[in-house]
Amino acid sequence: MSSTQQQFDVAVIGAGAAGMMCAAVAGQRGRRVVLIDHAAKLAEKIRISGGGRCNFTNVGAGPQNYLSQNPHFCRSALSRYTPQDFIALVKRHRIAFHEKHKGQLFCDDSSEDIIAMLKAECDAGNVAWRMPCAVEAIGKNGELFRIDTAAGEILASSVVIATGGLSIPKIGATDFAYRVARQFDLKLVATNPGLVPLTFDGRHWEPFAELAGLALPVAVETGQKKERGHFLEDLLFTHRGLSGPAILQISSYWKLSTPLTLNLVPELDVAETLIEGKGTLKKNLGNLLAQWLPGRLAEGWLKVNGVDAGARIADMPDKSLRRLGDSLNRWVILPSGSEGYRKAEVTLGGVDTRELSQQTMMATKAPGLHFIGEAVDVTGWLGGYNFQWAWASGVAAGLAV
Ligand code: FDA
Repeated sequence: MSSTQQQFDVAVIGAGAAGMMCAAVAGQRGRRVVLIDHAAKLAEKIRISGGGRCNFTNVGAGPQNYLSQNPHFCRSALSRYTPQDFIALVKRHRIAFHEKHKGQLFCDDSSEDIIAMLKAECDAGNVAWRMPCAVEAIGKNGELFRIDTAAGEILASSVVIATGGLSIPKIGATDFAYRVARQFDLKLVATNPGLVPLTFDGRHWEPFAELAGLALPVAVETGQKKERGHFLEDLLFTHRGLSGPAILQISSYWKLSTPLTLNLVPELDVAETLIEGKGTLKKNLGNLLAQWLPGRLAEGWLKVNGVDAGARIADMPDKSLRRLGDSLNRWVILPSGSEGYRKAEVTLGGVDTRELSQQTMMATKAPGLHFIGEAVDVTGWLGGYNFQWAWASGVAAGLAV
């Protein structure tokens, strides 16, 4: 071994959510662990997550909340390290938290609490840090892995790749995991931005652009059969298209050239209500729609559909009322694209799970080489599910290396 060469049992590359969890677990088992990251600032993605308060898990997280070519793969890790296990860790570190909506748990104060907790767990496992430190190459040196880094060569019996996906390149996302997978002849599932705002052709969007900033609860769906997504969440109009939880959720299921179907008044059959109410509903159309929709949207909707807001429903043919009602209950729209990795919260696809053991996250073709977290083709819904996968897959590898 040369003077710049150092040997460890385990080298974890990527000190984000999954990497820190894995390093802490392996270190606390008595393994000699080194954690390497090229970033200058620790765990930027945790820091910015959940609007700075980190939605660190979801109490209901289960395989049904994840997308993957191999939907059962995540089952084992998720059942061995559950949201309750992570909550127990958070409580042990006396971090105050609250449930916000649909089982989503957030820190009361700041995401920094979660970063400090993971750092303390790594310290308890005597994890060695190399950060900021670029990784130049990975190779084999007999039975060991050799990692060439800006801080010299590292030898390790096991390597865990925890470098995440492609989302938010501005804070250090790279395709490193996919390059390593290719180097070791492992298959990849095509990647795409997920949990991302969707955009529309400028000309087609023009009439809706003036609704930017407007939010309302909707039902949204897309896709067929097994690949169908359906969510009841808030929608947000933007200058370039649509966003808000409803769109972020459905974006992970959306495919180019496939429309979305939105129900802007999910609790009501608008056409039926208008037709049946012709004799009793005295208000004009503008005022009627404003009972069910934000006023600015009611007004904009009538304008886009060429209907006079002052018209009385009693004076309108049933056919026109049906068309108007159906347009609200079944708004079929074709996004032209998405805001891409620049804005995506996650990356869909990644290392094909059929190459990995679901118990240990190790590549069956490359003994000793593990992949965890977002680098793997397991992508959670919005709402704390992605961190739960990072923790659970990190623990699975941490117990095995
Ligand atoms: P993560 O991205 O956390 O870490 C990867 C690490 O690898 C980084 O530290 C990076 O610097 C390092 N790295 C990359 N390339 C490298 C290389 N070549 N060499 C060395 N190091 C390298 N999820 C959730 O459950 N709740 C939430 O509230 C949110 N909120 C949220 C907000 C925003 C704006 C984004 C972008 C994402 C979220 N997410 C989320 C998703 C969540 O942040 C994400 O799924 C996890 O951080 C993934 O954890 P990983 O450890 O796999 O990657």
